[in-house]
Amino acid sequence: MVMEREMMREKEEEPEEWYPPDYVYITRDEQHAHIASLPRVVHTGEVTKRYRSPKGKGERLQAKKGGVSIFLPWQHHNWKQMRYPIYTMTIFGQAGRAVEDSFAVGASGCHRHWMDAIFYRPGGTYIEEQDGVMYDCQGEGVLLVPTYSIHGHYFKEAPKKNGITVLPRIFEYIGIADMEVFDFDEEYKRKASPIGTFHIIQDVQDMMYNRRAITKWNPDSDDQQPKTVYDHYLKDVVDENRWRMQTVRWVPADSVPWEQTRQGKLKYLVHPWTNTVTRTMDCYLQEIPPGGCSGKHRHVYEEAHFICEGTGYTVQNGVRYDWKEDDLVCVPVGVTHQHFNADPEKKARIFGAHPRIFYHIGYGGIEQLENAPDWPGK
Ligand SMILES: [Fe+2]
Ligand SMILES: [Fe+2]
Repeated sequence: MVMEREMMREKEEEPEEWYPPDYVYITRDEQHAHIASLPRVVHTGEVTKRYRSPKGKGERLQAKKGGVSIFLPWQHHNWKQMRYPIYTMTIFGQAGRAVEDSFAVGASGCHRHWMDAIFYRPGGTYIEEQDGVMYDCQGEGVLLVPTYSIHGHYFKEAPKKNGITVLPRIFEYIGIADMEVFDFDEEYKRKASPIGTFHIIQDVQDMMYNRRAITKWNPDSDDQQPKTVYDHYLKDVVDENRWRMQTVRWVPADSVPWEQTRQGKLKYLVHPWTNTVTRTMDCYLQEIPPGGCSGKHRHVYEEAHFICEGTGYTVQNGVRYDWKEDDLVCVPVGVTHQHFNADPEKKARIFGAHPRIFYHIGYGGIEQLENAPDWPGK
């Protein structure tokens, strides 16, 4: 049998090269070497880009304590352009600034996009508007923006610390990265043009409004049990609509208890086993006691850690990376890591975020390599 195959193969003509010679095999090594060479810590005070708020008054918003900064930018689908080793998340910083002059300063424009988003808010008082519903939010927590909702946000009272916004990059790869801005401002449009299309996309809007009006998948019958596989897909629209309406959009940090885990003191604010309106990313808070450290672990998914407070370092694959408040520590795919609090008197507080796509494709699990010293069960 093997012989026969070999003989047949001899008769076959050599195929033309359909891959460019360096396409599949060589760039993989180049790519990994490139990712490994990128900086692991973003000092967010030295931001890469600063955008004006759409209704902002230019220079005032570019002051140190105002506006929005992009730390991990959109990557233009090309790993050679990556400046930090994160493929799956775009991360913004948001300095708290209270609204002034009837929204002239401090309010985001009213807009809509397919991608969902997690805003980590360190404190303050703020209003979030989503599809005409106003959410009053206060204190530390995460604000969740569902996919394709018209929304805007502003602070009534600014927090004393900076926060961050985490957006999943998966939407760009699956062809639904469009962004629409409702209250037009030429300056904003010009500044923000790399991130998408800035008009109402009528066919998308029509589809979404029709889709969201569906409350029954089988109007001819009261029997709501799917009888075919295809029926499951029809029923999914109804289920998705119901789910979206009853999910949580604001998770105050103090609504979730701390858990003592093998990795240290953690509280997950968004995760696959909770009912939140974002499905693309998970996030948590972690505290490391003075002079202490976290456990050491490794996971396939990549991860970003925003340092809410404290001074310390993270050891990644044996290399030490120092951090301080407002830094963003990036952990690339499959790298071992452990955080150390270098301050003998103050705790360190970290907001961590990672994409959920890895979980959906069967690589969401964590491999524990060393337990935190304060893990009681060790
Ligand atoms: Fe948004
Ligand atoms: Fe981790």
